Amino acid sequence: MKRLKMIVVNTPEEAGARAADVFEAVIAAKPECVLGLATGTTPLPLYRELIAREKAGTIRFAEVRTVNLDEYKGLQPNHPQSYRRFMQEHLFDHVSIKTENTCVPCGLPENPDAMCAAYEDTIERWGGIDLQLLSIGHDGHVGFNEPEDTFPMYTHEVQLTEMTREANKRFFDSIDEVPTAAFTMGIGTIMKARKIVMIITGADKADITYAAFCGPVTPKVPASILQFHPDVTVICDKAAAAKL
Ligand code: F6R
Repeated sequence: MKRLKMIVVNTPEEAGARAADVFEAVIAAKPECVLGLATGTTPLPLYRELIAREKAGTIRFAEVRTVNLDEYKGLQPNHPQSYRRFMQEHLFDHVSIKTENTCVPCGLPENPDAMCAAYEDTIERWGGIDLQLLSIGHDGHVGFNEPEDTFPMYTHEVQLTEMTREANKRFFDSIDEVPTAAFTMGIGTIMKARKIVMIITGADKADITYAAFCGPVTPKVPASILQFHPDVTVICDKAAAAKL
């Protein structure tokens, strides 16, 4: 079993480039691999780097399949703040990936439980996630798995904490527009990924980085479960690693 690997770099751009190296290796070894993807500010340098590498000919997305961690409940796929739209704008529209090979949970399902079960089935049918990308919320969430008394297993609906809505209001006109619920892969779904890369950048993430990787494993800090995964690489910039 490999040990948790922690890489500290100087800048968010460097973190993106180091993560891109892992993506490049996984795609080269298995062109039809299944990538678990994340949204938010943290992955942006990685996505820019992946686009540049496909243009340079070192990565090819044509056969790659992707499953995203989460989606806001109540947003149409083309809503400016939906995670489907985010992925189109920041990655999918700029690489050779086929739309039918990209999955983001539906934000407006007729039957939420059936949608969540079907999402798990798709991951299973595709053979599981080869490489899962994560970042971390200020409260330790991964995907939208917020601090709770237990670790949720499967894709499910979740109520967002005020801390998370507050952190994400920067993308909306006001806090009232930030959805109160979302659909997210479970901790069990994430933990089944064969390989995980977590990127953490910024001084505002230093305390939670310490809690997640130097504190006890607890559902009160959902990311702490990664201490039990056999193949995790955490790529931090200096600011996020300051308290380690
Ligand atoms: C996004 C996601 C979230 C974010 C986390 C950090 O798909 O699942 O867990 O990774 O909220 O967001 P940023 O990177 O914006 O700080």
